Amino acid sequence: MLLSFALISLASLASASEVYNTFDGDGFPACNAVAKVYRPSTVDEMVAIVKNASAQGIPVRASGVSPLQYASVARYHHNQNDAVNAISDLEMNGGVGSVVVEAGVTFPQVAQWLQDRGAALGFTLGAVNWNITLGGAIAMGAHRSSLREDSQVSAAALAMDIINGKGDLIHLEKNANNDTWLAATTSLGLLGVIARVKIAVMADYKVWANQTTIDEEYILNGDLFEMISPYVTANFWRIFLQDSTQWWPSVKKFHMRTYGVLPVNASGNAFQSTFSVTSLEGNLALSLLNAGQNSSTANFFSADTFYALWSAPNFHETTFNLPLLSWPVVGHAFDVLIGGLYPGELPEWDYNLHGHTLELAVPVGQGPALLRRVRELLDQSAADGTAVTSTYRSGINIKFGKPFDSFLGQTTERVGNITGDWSKGAMMFDFPSFVPTTGDRHRYNEAWYTTLATTLINEFPIRPHWTKNTRTIFGQSVKNLDADSLQRFAAVRAQFDPDKTFRSVVGEIIGVV
Ligand SMILES: Cc1cc2nc3c(=O)[nH]c(=O)nc-3n(C[C@H](O)[C@H](O)[C@H](O)COP(=O)(O)OP(=O)(O)OC[C@H]3O[C@@H](n4cnc5c(N)ncnc54)[C@H](O)[C@@H]3O)c2cc1C
Ligand SMILES: *[C@@H]1O[C@H](CO)[C@@H](O)[C@H](O)[C@H]1NC(C)=O
Ligand SMILES: *[C@@H]1O[C@H](CO)[C@@H](O)[C@H](O)[C@H]1NC(C)=O
Ligand SMILES: *[C@@H]1O[C@H](CO)[C@@H](O)[C@H](O)[C@H]1NC(C)=O
Ligand SMILES: *[C@@H]1O[C@H](CO)[C@@H](O)[C@H](O)[C@H]1NC(C)=O
Ligand SMILES: *[C@@H]1O[C@H](CO)[C@@H](O)[C@H](O)[C@H]1NC(C)=O
Ligand SMILES: *[C@@H]1O[C@H](CO)[C@@H](O)[C@H](O)[C@H]1NC(C)=O
Ligand SMILES: *[C@@H]1O[C@H](CO)[C@@H](O)[C@H](O)[C@H]1NC(C)=O
Repeated sequence: MLLSFALISLASLASASEVYNTFDGDGFPACNAVAKVYRPSTVDEMVAIVKNASAQGIPVRASGVSPLQYASVARYHHNQNDAVNAISDLEMNGGVGSVVVEAGVTFPQVAQWLQDRGAALGFTLGAVNWNITLGGAIAMGAHRSSLREDSQVSAAALAMDIINGKGDLIHLEKNANNDTWLAATTSLGLLGVIARVKIAVMADYKVWANQTTIDEEYILNGDLFEMISPYVTANFWRIFLQDSTQWWPSVKKFHMRTYGVLPVNASGNAFQSTFSVTSLEGNLALSLLNAGQNSSTANFFSADTFYALWSAPNFHETTFNLPLLSWPVVGHAFDVLIGGLYPGELPEWDYNLHGHTLELAVPVGQGPALLRRVRELLDQSAADGTAVTSTYRSGINIKFGKPFDSFLGQTTERVGNITGDWSKGAMMFDFPSFVPTTGDRHRYNEAWYTTLATTLINEFPIRPHWTKNTRTIFGQSVKNLDADSLQRFAAVRAQFDPDKTFRSVVGEIIGVV
């Protein structure tokens, strides 16, 4: 299996305050001052490593696939690899079932394994792509987008085996009324190493994807819950909204992406790629985006270019790898929701296209107000003569999450001092921005990004995504978290790891260690 461990020294916790936690590889460290990296291949080996480290008082942090390795998820890849052995116990009963995976397997691996056996990941998992491990996604509360279906990855977990701070393997069964489970479903890695997870799966299915272009004004003044949630019918032909809606502030448009389920015998063989680029495109995008480091005009030019490119489907058909030119598209769940790279292409970060990330959740009812506030700040930057817009290959991603109860989850209804109605779910404002490779690597009007984050955190009951924000943002957001949930999480943590073998910067900032 792919799970590796970094044994990190204390030095990493004292490093600069603006470190970005994960995402992008070089210059975007997930942890500094790594003392030793182990690559165990069995759960027993992991247990031995943790026992050893714990006995010697060495802090441990689990690590999924290194961000640098996101590089090459093979297109049409049906290769064998050692992680396949770590998937077992598929049980189907009618249209639903379960499978046990070791936590180091990645989403494409599980999806391919299931597809070969007539099964598929459910919607929660179906759209989390690339070489992200299930363990890493469950630990950090990762999610996709849906108000109708569960959207947090850990919502699909039925049971987990966690190696606690003493090196004991603890088995947990799903129980939404149990504090241990409510802690384990977003643990930040602080209860220990998630070794195995039993996840809910479904019979294999196909999916259609559609995209509509909507004027900004309509979304900023609309009722997002009304727009996103009602896609429900009583049978399997259910329709749900998933994946992100993209905001293109330079042209004042949104791309709204919808997906729906079709029977597995529906015709269509579409395959999605989100990050795949040819070397020509990659190098062009890099010079285009770098040109925007000191030029607002250049940023607006590239934003308009990417908007136009993303109006067409980012789907090819699998027989001849030809681009699909019109919406909607239909394909296999795995190909449409996860996809990969097109032949001969590499992911964007292989061309030095790196982004800083910012992702903040608000109750869905407050979504339009938050977007209007962002629009005011964008307009203010223009009035100041330093207009900012989206500077990434995608626009600003707007995602949604159905309520899911987990002490540290982004869509839990548990509220802190600043209350909000989270009962209908959350809207996530996910704003990646290009990091220039030139000069001191500052973004155009860098100060604006700080103003944006601070303004939103101070004016809305926002909750941060645990892997897509800076330490400053985590610190500023603590006031929105529910003190009772933090305390109860901390109590479970203390029980699992009294000697604090497992470390997490986020956990320290929010005071649960
Ligand atoms: C290309 C890309 C796309 C992404 N898309 C999304 C998205 O759509 N939605 C979303 O919510 N997030 C998304 N993310 C963020 C991603 O879900 C998180 O960063 C996730 O935690 C990464 O998991 P990983 O396996 O890479 O683990 P790492 O980055 O190695 O680890 C993340 C954290 O989890 C802990 N951890 C890892 N494995 C385990 C384990 N087995 N047991 C306990 N703790 C563990 C680590 O200690 C660390 O603190 C994306 C990231 C990338 C790079
Ligand atoms: C455990 O620690 C000992 C002593 O430091 C070391 O020799 C051994 O290799 C370690 N074992 C594992 C599994 O890490
Ligand atoms: C991503 O995972 C696949 C499947 O294990 C592997 O073949 C590929 O090399 C991985 N990508 C990288 C760059 O590690
Ligand atoms: C919650 O679950 C844990 C782990 O299964 C168990 O040890 C504990 O007793 C449960 N707590 C309650 C209150 O039932
Ligand atoms: C796809 O979206 C278009 C609007 O862009 C709409 O007219 C069409 O009915 C949609 N198709 C499906 C299958 O939902
Ligand atoms: C798919 O299979 C169902 C029966 O399972 C059948 O009724 C339907 O006509 C088939 N559709 C296609 C497109 O083959
Ligand atoms: C932008 O300006 C900075 C500082 O003057 C400089 O270092 C950097 O190279 C410039 N960027 C580009 C792309 O010209
Ligand atoms: C929440 O409110 C209480 C009571 O007013 C106060 O003591 C506490 O500091 C507040 N907590 C946060 C995180 O702001």
